[in-house]
Amino acid sequence: MKYIKLSIIVLSIIIFSCSKEKDLPTVITSPNNTIQIDFNLTEKGVPSYKVSFENEEVIKTSTLGFNLKDFPDINEDFEIINSTTNSFNETWQMPWGEQLDVVNNYNELIIELQETVAPNRKINIVFKAYDDGIGFRYEFPEQDNFIEIFITDENTQFNLTEDYKTFWIPGDWDIYEHLYSTTKFSKIDALKYRDHSNLAQTQIPENSVNTPVTMVGKSGLHLSFHEAALVDYSGMTLKVDTLNLSMQSGLVGSRNQDYKVKRTLPFHTPWRTIHITKNAPDLIESNLIVNLNEPNKLGDVSWIKPTKYTGIWWEMHLGKSTWDMSAKQDMTTHTTQAKPHGKHGATTKNAKAFIDFSAKNNIGAVLIEGWNTGWEHWIGFEDREGVFDFVTPYPDYDLQEVVRYGKEKGVEIIMHHETSAATETYTKQQDTAFALMQSLGIHAVKTGYVGKILPKGEYHHGQYMVNHYNNTVEKAAKYQVAINAHEPIKATGLRRTYPNTISREGLRGQEFNAWASDGGNPPEHISIVAFTRMLSGPIDFTPGIFDIKFDKYKKDNQVNTTIAQQLALFVVIYSPVQMAADLIENYEANLEAFQFIKDVGVDWKQTQVLNGEIGDFVTIARQERETGNWFIGSITDENSRELNINLDFLEEGQSYSAIIYKDGNNAHWNDNPLALDIETVTVTKDTKLTLNLAQGGGAAISIIKQ
Ligand code: NOJ
Ligand code: CA
Repeated sequence: MKYIKLSIIVLSIIIFSCSKEKDLPTVITSPNNTIQIDFNLTEKGVPSYKVSFENEEVIKTSTLGFNLKDFPDINEDFEIINSTTNSFNETWQMPWGEQLDVVNNYNELIIELQETVAPNRKINIVFKAYDDGIGFRYEFPEQDNFIEIFITDENTQFNLTEDYKTFWIPGDWDIYEHLYSTTKFSKIDALKYRDHSNLAQTQIPENSVNTPVTMVGKSGLHLSFHEAALVDYSGMTLKVDTLNLSMQSGLVGSRNQDYKVKRTLPFHTPWRTIHITKNAPDLIESNLIVNLNEPNKLGDVSWIKPTKYTGIWWEMHLGKSTWDMSAKQDMTTHTTQAKPHGKHGATTKNAKAFIDFSAKNNIGAVLIEGWNTGWEHWIGFEDREGVFDFVTPYPDYDLQEVVRYGKEKGVEIIMHHETSAATETYTKQQDTAFALMQSLGIHAVKTGYVGKILPKGEYHHGQYMVNHYNNTVEKAAKYQVAINAHEPIKATGLRRTYPNTISREGLRGQEFNAWASDGGNPPEHISIVAFTRMLSGPIDFTPGIFDIKFDKYKKDNQVNTTIAQQLALFVVIYSPVQMAADLIENYEANLEAFQFIKDVGVDWKQTQVLNGEIGDFVTIARQERETGNWFIGSITDENSRELNINLDFLEEGQSYSAIIYKDGNNAHWNDNPLALDIETVTVTKDTKLTLNLAQGGGAAISIIKQ
């Protein structure tokens, strides 16, 4: 795998003297000078920073600090004892990704602080200025009398200069599966989402938002706030002060202790990040989050390959089949004596049907959920530890035979570990479960954490779970296993360091369309997701539903897009494992449209975002690594629109056949979602196309070299 650094050029290293009398640098600008960060100490010695973009202030003076347990807060009385600036420019390669080459070019400012009064603690603050945003973090160096730290709150402020149009989900400590709201910053009201009938767990303690949270200003400025390299720390929500247009870090806590983070010195926090761009497309093209992570620690990861996959999955969400093989059993004895009810999805026969279909259609893998015992205890029980063991198949599922058959047909099996949030059981079982996978040559698992976390009192995004998720990824790597986590911790770019963090859900996925009582995901959903959640990393959204209304199974639910938009999502949403989620029979009934899924790539040499406005529309072109072919996905919200695109990114002198899958006449997400026109034309780099997207519609284009 080509993950080797192409070049590392440390352009200049200017180390300033430690002497206090000398002028120490406190300002840094980005390589192209558009972004500037100023560090300052207030009169009381409180660390603060401000940020400007093209000479306009975008973050007003904002203070930095911590509240601690059993120790004075880290707050005031600091002096600068040293500061340093560096410049860095490298190009590194992703083993798979939205692009092959990633430019990592920034200027850095390291401020070393010490308290002027006892206990004279030291803390460093490191700022990195990129051309498309900034990152900063706190570093706690090793020092006498300051060995362990119990953080009760991190007080990182982000003081805004405008009442931005904001795209946000509530700062839920337990789940990211909320619909996005679009309001003025001053109108954010996360607490109104406290009671949510569709969520298995939720905890919204204060008016806060989860990240990435994205904002648009009057002049077209785009800001998105997030974090990078979340390791051994709590997830950060942002507490919202709607009166003062200010945010402050709100770390996820736990009911089991009176602090939020416990660390031993030396250590550093995750990066606090702000994307700063002039338009929406540049947000998606930014590599700020991955760049702030450390290089690949796993070495050769060629054992896992990007792939499309099908699966025994949507049929359970529709109610066509079930995860369990027999009816719900006695909770105290956990016994499974009931007769099979005949609706079990994960049977050997069904698995083979998916393998056959995938083999025929250029799809490399099949996910099989509901294969292991324990699902009969799923509904309505609190004590879920010990229920799943991740190695015992139901009697009607022959794991070995399914894997063997898959190998014969060139199709891999994706394992499924639904932990039901029983983390101690899962941790205990991981070696056995991953070893079984390795012995079978299975290299990917979808994990799930539905329900309230066990041990009780922990939340999905607190330090305990951050460590659980990260330890799982590291352990899995030892067995050459990649993790696609559902109900995960947020993506913070760790895929650079641990590429086996292959994908994750962590948003309101397609599944909600099958059963949510609130009408499912609205047509604008992905046109917001592309500029919020997707800035953090790959999304396992599970696109490609053809039977939009699925009235045969559910009269009251449906997908709220046209079929053309479902195709476009294969390009718009980035994931190295991309599910073709619908039932085999629905694809077989529409093989013409399915051709796009058959052709579309999953691993990209480059990505270009051709247009987009948050919540309205977005068009993305991606070039496949292996073939050099291009694929375009364009989607719109509930409004129809005409978009003109220019194919000037195509190779000079090369002709291509473009197969355009577009909304048909009168297509409409609700009234006429299946109207699809397919047209083939020859295109070159001089071609301009006009895309007419229906309400809730889209367009998908394969551009294949002639
Ligand atoms: C929730 C996941 O997001 C979904 O994909 C999965 O099918 C169920 N949990 C069961 O594990
Ligand atoms: Ca809109």
